[in-house]
Amino acid sequence: MEKVALITGASKGLGFETAYQLGVKGYTVIVAARTQQKSNETAEKLKSKGVHAVGMQLDVVNDNDVDSLSKSINEHFDKLDVLVNNAGVQLDFPGFMPGNSTETVSMDILKQTFEINYFAPIALTQKLLPLLKKSTAGRIVNVSSIMGSLALHADLNSPIYGIKLLAYNSSKTALNQFTLHLAEALKDSPIKANSAHPGWVKTDLGGEYAPMSIEDGVKTIVDLSTLDENGPTGAFIHLGESLPW
Ligand SMILES: NC(=O)c1ccc[n+]([C@@H]2O[C@H](COP(=O)([O-])OP(=O)(O)OC[C@H]3O[C@@H](n4cnc5c(N)ncnc54)[C@H](OP(=O)(O)O)[C@@H]3O)[C@@H](O)[C@H]2O)c1
Repeated sequence: MEKVALITGASKGLGFETAYQLGVKGYTVIVAARTQQKSNETAEKLKSKGVHAVGMQLDVVNDNDVDSLSKSINEHFDKLDVLVNNAGVQLDFPGFMPGNSTETVSMDILKQTFEINYFAPIALTQKLLPLLKKSTAGRIVNVSSIMGSLALHADLNSPIYGIKLLAYNSSKTALNQFTLHLAEALKDSPIKANSAHPGWVKTDLGGEYAPMSIEDGVKTIVDLSTLDENGPTGAFIHLGESLPW
């Protein structure tokens, strides 16, 4: 039976490659991008690579877009097997260089970051849960970051200790809390909900100094999207290993 996956922020970077790799595995991929034009172009690119892709418009902070998207999925597919909450921004300062934005980051940046990285995945997930519950094995992947780990930010010896991006890091910490709460709420259903840390990946967001390729960066996201019934739920994972919360 056809398996359907929705990927937000699919126009480029990790979102596009996740859609491609799930498509290669036989999933029908709904590629959601901020504008109709971008989503159509993304779907066309994937179709030219042999993937069954459908483009749908979704600015993740727009409630009307969320409503329309859910209606379209309901009309076209009647269920959803995989939701990848991938769309995200890092607005504190360019790249992931050592520094601390805590004294300077504006309320505007904090609020925008939380709107996109935290509130939007919750709103979308809540809206799509009825469709995910129609799947025999729903999978929700929140694309988080090691930068959201409180344990590592409190550890002077951790590699991320010096990168204190208050807006970005705390939005991912909050997203991880959503993952934990969601997994508990769904524990009596077949749905699994996990947080993925892709690695530090060479995308527009990750920047040019990132060591990891996009192809390798999506491994964790694809693994968590395609977990079998024995896989974890309520976990924070990078390449098969649990990360400290
Ligand atoms: N790259 C890394 O090293 C790294 C590490 C850890 C976690 N992550 C996470 O991985 C995810 C993907 O990041 P990336 O590295 O692939 O970044 P990217 O190349 O900058 O892609 C971000 C994607 O999010 C979309 N987006 C942003 N705001 C949106 C909105 N309001 N509505 C819909 N789409 C929106 C962008 O769309 P537009 O093209 O329209 O802007 C784009 O498609 C993010 O959640 C990020 O935090 C990345």
